Amino acid sequence: MKVGFIGLGHMGTGMAANLLRAGHEVTVYNRTPGKAQGLVAQGARAAAGVADACGGDAVVTMLADDGAVEGAVFGEKGVIGSLGKGAIHVSMSTISVALSERLTAAHANAGQRFVAAPVFGRPEMAAAAKLFIVAAGAPDAVDACLPLFEAMGQKTFPIGDQPKAANLVKLSGNFLSASVIPRPDEVVSRLLQRSPFVRNRSTLAGAVRYMVGEQRCGLRPGGYGPGSCRRIRPARRPDAAL
Ligand SMILES: NC(=O)c1ccc[n+]([C@@H]2O[C@H](COP(=O)([O-])OP(=O)(O)OC[C@H]3O[C@@H](n4cnc5c(N)ncnc54)[C@H](OP(=O)(O)O)[C@@H]3O)[C@@H](O)[C@H]2O)c1
Repeated sequence: MKVGFIGLGHMGTGMAANLLRAGHEVTVYNRTPGKAQGLVAQGARAAAGVADACGGDAVVTMLADDGAVEGAVFGEKGVIGSLGKGAIHVSMSTISVALSERLTAAHANAGQRFVAAPVFGRPEMAAAAKLFIVAAGAPDAVDACLPLFEAMGQKTFPIGDQPKAANLVKLSGNFLSASVIPRPDEVVSRLLQRSPFVRNRSTLAGAVRYMVGEQRCGLRPGGYGPGSCRRIRPARRPDAAL
């Protein structure tokens, strides 16, 4: 497919690279221009702006939050004013249900299609095309996006024709994981550091790395034993207010 990709952060860079690997024709755009260079070297075309990334069958947004998505979609030369009739905006960021409703209405008014497809998985999983993707929107639009989802994820869950349902599932999943163990990284790192009962430290450390990511797991690379924990970074829950 001919697809634009807006938002080359920790998640988006790997996702766009996987679209390229799968043979899609990808045009990338990021607010900070230098981040597109690696993908251009892999065959992507660098867009000069949001509008320039909206010339294909679909455009994916993988931006930080509601404000960033609103700016890219409703701003001057944004997605709404640039995407062709019948083309699809695939919103993969973690955004609010209210914004998803607004996007659904605005794209319908503009004769465009809208699919919400937020993801579960960390940047390492994004880079390895192992994301879990929850997709919702008109069935024809979701079906059209399946080749993109297959390139970026290990499993796609189509959950209906109302995009906001996918955003609600994503926010509920985040709320659940934040509620069950507020700080899995902190709990397990301290366990690894102090507990005399943990015998197989390397296996447990590997599991922690998989669950919460190398950056947040509080373990030095290759370090599993007492004293191997570095200062644990405070948990970021930017979507907790959504
Ligand atoms: N990281 C994770 O583990 C994870 C897991 C699942 C879902 N998610 C969701 O995936 C989305 C992206 O996460 P990420 O980790 O890739 O974030 P990130 O690394 O912080 O990247 C954010 C992206 O948004 C852009 N951006 C931020 N504010 C902007 C604005 N006002 N206008 C235009 N562009 C703006 C950034 O551009 P610049 O480069 O110019 O700053 C960057 O491309 C978020 O919705 C997040 O909740 C993340």
